Amino acid sequence: MNKMIKAVNISKAYYQGRTRINAVRKASFEIAEGEAMLITGPSGAGKSTLLHILGGLDKPTEGKIFFDGFDLYKLGDGARSAIRNEKIGFIFQFYHLLPEFNVLENVMLPGIIGRARKAKTIKHRAELLLEMAGLSRRLQHRPSELSGGECQRVAIARGLINNPRILLCDEPTGNLDSAKAGEVMSTLWRIKEKEKMNIIIVTHDERMEGDFDRAFRIVDGLMEESRNGANSLSEWQVCK
Ligand SMILES: Nc1ncnc2c1ncn2[C@@H]1O[C@H](COP(=O)(O)OP(=O)(O)OP(=O)(O)O)[C@@H](O)[C@H]1O
Ligand SMILES: [Mg+2]
Repeated sequence: MNKMIKAVNISKAYYQGRTRINAVRKASFEIAEGEAMLITGPSGAGKSTLLHILGGLDKPTEGKIFFDGFDLYKLGDGARSAIRNEKIGFIFQFYHLLPEFNVLENVMLPGIIGRARKAKTIKHRAELLLEMAGLSRRLQHRPSELSGGECQRVAIARGLINNPRILLCDEPTGNLDSAKAGEVMSTLWRIKEKEKMNIIIVTHDERMEGDFDRAFRIVDGLMEESRNGANSLSEWQVCK
């Protein structure tokens, strides 16, 4: 199977004055096309740092990321931005929805900024994704008029507007109760199956279990594969 992402010995160090913080230490892994990957770990373990590196948002101090065969950080800024816009969807922990725009507009926005597609096509895609996310009756709402779980589902739809090959999710269930977290995960899984894309979820939420192809644990920047292809049950499950 084709490799979607290949990470080779990636490390990221931050400096606070003279103190060196090794946020990610020599992480190496490969993800095949269509695979779902889970990375769990405690706060400060390096999850967001790793996800930003994988998404082309933050250069590693050492190591290489190959995205669909391209050496991501060897590309020029323009080429890397184009890959990011067209092939990578990013869901941030705190939604980052724009308060002055309604739900439909928030989802359409990266499509309009991203590339030359007809507004009508983008609108149809946004409506379809919002329907899959169970939000067809919330199109005109502003983010302040939505629940936390609904905001997260809008953020998922927005992350998918440009038909990415891979969706990177930073704490998609952070700050949500079990019921809302279950809804968000069902939405993610339904869309993933339909769109046949890769998904990487990083979280400190130990309730997160499901039909992941790969599962890793990260502690103090060190990654370790914790199980392979397992599907264990927990307090709530990823419903497909
Ligand atoms: N810009 C930065 N400058 C200095 N240190 C940083 C910076 N960003 C992150 N760190 C440090 O790197 C480590 C990893 O941070 P990261 O945000 O990746 O953790 P995380 O696993 O996502 O945590 P959380 O679950 O709380 O979101 C932490 O110790 C953090 O304090
Ligand atoms: Mg984080």
